[in-house]
Amino acid sequence: MHLRPAPLLPLLLLASLHAAPARARQAVPDTLERRVAACTSCHGSQSAPAPQPSSGPNYYPRIAGKPAGYLYNQLHNFRAGRRQYPLMTYMVEHMSDDYLREIATWFSTQHVPAPVLARSSLPAGQLERGHELVTRGDATLKVPACIACHGQRLT
Ligand code: HEC
Ligand code: HEC
Repeated sequence: MHLRPAPLLPLLLLASLHAAPARARQAVPDTLERRVAACTSCHGSQSAPAPQPSSGPNYYPRIAGKPAGYLYNQLHNFRAGRRQYPLMTYMVEHMSDDYLREIATWFSTQHVPAPVLARSSLPAGQLERGHELVTRGDATLKVPACIACHGQRLT
């Protein structure tokens, strides 16, 4: 078939008009890593550990490296209102199960180093009691040893 050259010029013009916005959009790659950057400002990332809040919640839990199934269930709990923290609920309320699972899996594969804690200035007696609770618990108070779940190195 014979192509007439006339319509080509407007087509080329259109193509070049579209090229600029397309390049601008590509400047921020649409990857999961970029999208969950909204989460790491509170939960920490490879380059910046989680900040400790001065007001509001008592702490920002680490999420990197926790089991995917556990993370998924927590996201699900926030969305369903079983676990309540308004900012978290707001962020996940419009996300599908599949997307929550994808996010949970991504965080489970991250290995953010644990922050180096400052040495405690508590009196020796209190430190000893803490050590006892962590390693052996207190059966009379029904406090289990923390290491029973958190492991010998509490990691
Ligand atoms: C404004 C700070 C903030 C942002 C941003 C934020 N979170 Fe949270 N998140 C929290 C706090 C605080 C908690 C603990 C709330 C509680 O005590 O139940 C939490 C809890 C969680 C938990 C449960 C952790 C656990 O160990 O049980 C998961 C999973 C989680 N967030 C994932 C995310 C994801 C995914 C995003 C991004 C879509 C996100 N968070 C964004 C503050 C934040
Ligand atoms: C029966 C199992 C179990 C025992 C025993 C236990 N924990 Fe936990 N702990 C958990 C689980 C599961 C989580 C995650 C839940 C969450 O983040 O909401 C957690 C979370 C934590 C966190 C938050 C860590 C983070 O991700 O930011 C701290 C701190 C903590 N535990 C301290 C302790 C201490 C101190 C003890 C002992 C007095 C203890 N735990 C005993 C199961 C346990």
